[in-house]
Amino acid sequence: EKGGYPHFMLKEIHEEPEAVKRCLSPRIRGGKVELGISGLPDDTLAAVDHIHIVACGTAMHAGLVGRYAIEALARIPVEVSIASEFRYRDPIFSKHDLVILISQSGETADTLAALRLAKEKGVRTLAIVNVPGSSIAREANDVLYTWAGPEIAVASTKAYLVQLSVLYLLAVKLGCLHGQLTEQQEADYCRELLEMPAHIQEAIDHEPEIISCAKQLKDDEHVFFIGRGVDYTLCQESSLKLKEVSYVHCEAYAAGELKHGTISLIEEGTPVIGVATQPSLYPKTVSNLEEVKSRGAKVILVCREGDKVDSELTTNLLRVPKVRDILSPLVAIVPLQLLAYHIAVLRGCDVDKPRNLAKSVTVE
Ligand code: F6R
Repeated sequence: EKGGYPHFMLKEIHEEPEAVKRCLSPRIRGGKVELGISGLPDDTLAAVDHIHIVACGTAMHAGLVGRYAIEALARIPVEVSIASEFRYRDPIFSKHDLVILISQSGETADTLAALRLAKEKGVRTLAIVNVPGSSIAREANDVLYTWAGPEIAVASTKAYLVQLSVLYLLAVKLGCLHGQLTEQQEADYCRELLEMPAHIQEAIDHEPEIISCAKQLKDDEHVFFIGRGVDYTLCQESSLKLKEVSYVHCEAYAAGELKHGTISLIEEGTPVIGVATQPSLYPKTVSNLEEVKSRGAKVILVCREGDKVDSELTTNLLRVPKVRDILSPLVAIVPLQLLAYHIAVLRGCDVDKPRNLAKSVTVE
């Protein structure tokens, strides 16, 4: 059942190219995005002027990437909330709002409660769900299935990639409907999205370098992740992944916030993983890494193929394929998921079933 892999988590990471392909290709036709959501016709989507993305854990982190994509491509303001906060906040809704719920299982109690709250207030809801026929899929006004196939490992990996894929499709669609993207730009995004499964595979093919990095980090009890913009959201997801499967204490920081407190924790040998895949932010994040390096940190950098790196700076370099900036999370998360997996294995953890965690959180 594990298809020759020692754990479901590893199998599911290796299934990512296929899952993303299955999710994207039926929804792209002749250079156009076709979402096929009957309850949300184009004129309704064209009128949406504010989006709330609500989810928990990894699904919420996918939502953070979705915010960057939708705001960049469609210029619609997006708020991302943790479901257990959103539902108790008495959120402010207006007429043309859309609430997007993201959930792999479709059964997460707080996400379901947030969905019901939005419906009660008369706001349109769209669910991005993996498990067919699940509660959230049934109750939302409309659903976009992620079609990743079953995800068994407690730690979510391939589900995150397909959640991103659907959010990119939605961002392109909204960009067109809101007059922000030309037909040519839509066709370019469609083509590049269809190329992503191959790039995800290239990222997976770097596994040997990731294993040597895992060996470097396996005995560390504290790991910091820093990045800016969309890379910061990847840090948040990577930090969650590593802590849940390896029981290592991890923190994700916006690189620019480091100086405002956290840098006091850096001492000789403290591992700091920098994620820097955005050309416009690259020099800034690298300069933050230089600061921690000068205080003794062990620096690991995730950057793109071809980016210039001073060989003195890092102990390990994890390269990812060069793709359009906004799409880079689809490839940049891969080494970080594999790193979490391999560190957990080296530490002898029960990777597929970490202590105290459940695959589907149906209690609040
Ligand atoms: C982390 C993880 C959890 C889930 C969260 C939401 O690896 O799996 O953080 O992402 O419990 O679950 P779903 O997506 O089923 O609503």
